[in-house]
Amino acid sequence: MGGGLVNSIFMSALTAGLIALSHGPVLAKSGDAEKGEGIYQKRCLQCHGEEGDGLGPAAERLNPPPRDFTLGLYKIQSSAFDADLPNDEDLFRMISDGMPGTAMPGWSDLLSEQDIWDVIATVKAFAELEGEPERQVDYGTQVKSSPESIAAGKKLFLADDQCSECHGVEGKGDAIKKLKNDNGERTWPRNLTKPWTFRASNDPKDIFTRITVGIPTTQMPSFADPKSKKKLSIEERWHVANYVASLAKTEKTVRSDNTVIQAARIEGELPASPDDPVWDSAPPSTFFMVPQIVGKERFFKAANDTISVRSLYTDKMIALHLEWDDRTKSIPGDDKARTIADEELTEDAIAVQFPMKISAGMEKPYFLMGDAAKPVNLWRWSSGTTQMPESVSILDAMGINDQQARDGDGGLSAKGAYKDGTWRVVLTRSRKTETTDKDLQFEEGRFIPIAFFAWDGSNSEAGSRHAMSTWYWLLLKPSTGAKPMIVAIVVALLIGGILVWWGRSATARREGMTP
Ligand code: HEC
Ligand code: HEC
Repeated sequence: MGGGLVNSIFMSALTAGLIALSHGPVLAKSGDAEKGEGIYQKRCLQCHGEEGDGLGPAAERLNPPPRDFTLGLYKIQSSAFDADLPNDEDLFRMISDGMPGTAMPGWSDLLSEQDIWDVIATVKAFAELEGEPERQVDYGTQVKSSPESIAAGKKLFLADDQCSECHGVEGKGDAIKKLKNDNGERTWPRNLTKPWTFRASNDPKDIFTRITVGIPTTQMPSFADPKSKKKLSIEERWHVANYVASLAKTEKTVRSDNTVIQAARIEGELPASPDDPVWDSAPPSTFFMVPQIVGKERFFKAANDTISVRSLYTDKMIALHLEWDDRTKSIPGDDKARTIADEELTEDAIAVQFPMKISAGMEKPYFLMGDAAKPVNLWRWSSGTTQMPESVSILDAMGINDQQARDGDGGLSAKGAYKDGTWRVVLTRSRKTETTDKDLQFEEGRFIPIAFFAWDGSNSEAGSRHAMSTWYWLLLKPSTGAKPMIVAIVVALLIGGILVWWGRSATARREGMTP
C-alpha cells in the first residue's frame, strides 16, 4: 500500500528536476477556447476551479496555490517586464512541462500540441485576454559563463544586498523578512542552489529572463525597470545569471545511484563540532526527502527536501554529520524568528532512524517509524529555544503513533550550528551499548538501514507534520587492516553457497532417481 505510493512520490521527486528543460519547437498556434473547455473540465478544474479562480477542490492543500486565471497574471513571462501578458509560448511551456517545485503537472504526455493551444485559449478567456504582447525581453549579446563572469555576478548578487536581501548570501533563500505574494499568500524566495525547484529552469538564459522581467505576482522584482532602484545593465544581468547557474554545482547533489553512506574509520577522537574541517574528509551522500503523506494526519507542505550525510567512526564511537538547507533558524522565544515564522513557531528538528535490530533476512522495518514486529530507534535532535539549549533524545518507536522517549539522552550527544540557511548537526554515540535488545549495535562491514526525518519549526512542522526520506544504507567501511577478514568472510559465504547448492542438487539428483 503506502510503500508503492511513496515510491512513486520519490520517483516523481527524482524526475521533477529533469523535465523542465525539454521544450522543443512549437508549431500550430490557433487555439479554440470552446474545444479547450472540455480539456479544462477534465484536466485542470480540480485545481484551478470551475470559474478559473484557483479554487478547485484540491486547491486547499497546495502550496503554492493554483493560479487564479481571472487575474490574467502569470509568473513565467518572456515578454518585456511592462507587457500586460506573457507570450503564448510561455504558457505553452508551463502547461506542457509543468512547474517543478509545485503541484502543477506537465501535460505533454496526455495532451496533443493542439489540445494545449486550445486550453491556452480557454485559460486566457477567463481574464478576457486576447492577442499577444509586442514588447519582448532584450537579451543583448549573451555573456558566456566563465570564472570571470561568475565572479562579477557574485559581486553584483551581494552588492547592496540586491539579491541576497531575499535569497541569502549563499543563495539558500534564507529570507530576512516575511514575503507575501500579491494575493497575500506566504511565499518563500527560491533556494538558488536547488535548480529542481525552479518553475522554469536554471539555464542562464532562463535566469536572465527572470531577473529581467521579475516573477509577476510575487516579490521577485524586475531588474530592467528604469523606474526601480534595483537596476542592472544587460551585461550585468548575464553575469548574475551565470553566477546563479553556478550555484547548483555543489558536491551535495542528489545522485540516485548513491544509496550508501560510507563511514570511514579514523584514529583518535571523532570531531564533535559540525564545522570541524575533519568532516571534509568524509564524502557526503545527499538524499531527497518528501512530505509525510502516509500517516493519519497527512502533510503536504514540508519546507525541506534534501539532506546530506557524512559519517566517521573509531574503535568505540560512531558520529553522523547531518546537513540540510533550512531557510529559517527556528528558535521559539526569539523575536526575529517569530516575525519570519509561518504560524506557531516551534523548534527545528532532525531524526535519524535505525532498526532496533537488523533481521537475518535484511528486511527493513516499515519506513514510517516501524511497527510492532520490527521496532526502530529514532535519534532526535531539537534546536532549542531562547530558554533551553539544543537537546537530543532517543525514541523507541513501533509506528507513528507509538513512540516512547527514553529517560535522559541514551548515551547520544549532539552539537548543531546554523549559518546562512544551513543547519549542520553532529550526532555521536558508542557503537556498542549494554541494552543490546533495544539499541542497534554498529558493526563494521555491515549494511545498516538508515532513514531521516526533518521538521522546520517556522513552517508549522511538528509531530507528524514533517519531511522524510525512504530507507538508505550506512556502511562502516573496515579499515585497510581489516580487509583480509572481509575477504575471508566472502570466501566462506561463497563456499557455503556452493556447498548448499551442491547439496541441493545432489538431493534433487537422488530424488529424481527415486521412482
Ligand atoms: C494538481 C493541481 C493542478 C492541476 C491539475 C493543474 N494545475 Fe496548473 N497550476 C497548479 C499550481 C499549484 C500552479 C501555481 C504554481 C506556482 O505558482 O508556482 C499552477 C499554475 C498554472 C499556470 C500558470 C503559469 C505561470 O507562468 O504562472 C498555468 C497557465 C496553468 N497552471 C495551467 C494549467 C492547465 C491548462 C491545466 C490543465 C491542463 C492545469 N494547469 C492543471 C496546479 C495545477
Ligand atoms: C524582494 C525579494 C527578492 C529579491 C530582491 C530577489 N528575489 Fe529572486 N525571488 C524572490 C521570490 C519570492 C521568488 C519566488 C517566487 C515564486 O514564488 O515563484 C524568487 C525567485 C527567483 C528565481 C527562480 C526562478 C524560477 O524559475 O523559479 C531566481 C533564479 C531568482 N529569484 C533570482 C534572483 C536574482 C539573481 C536576484 C538579484 C538580481 C533576485 N532573485 C532578487 C524574491 C526576490
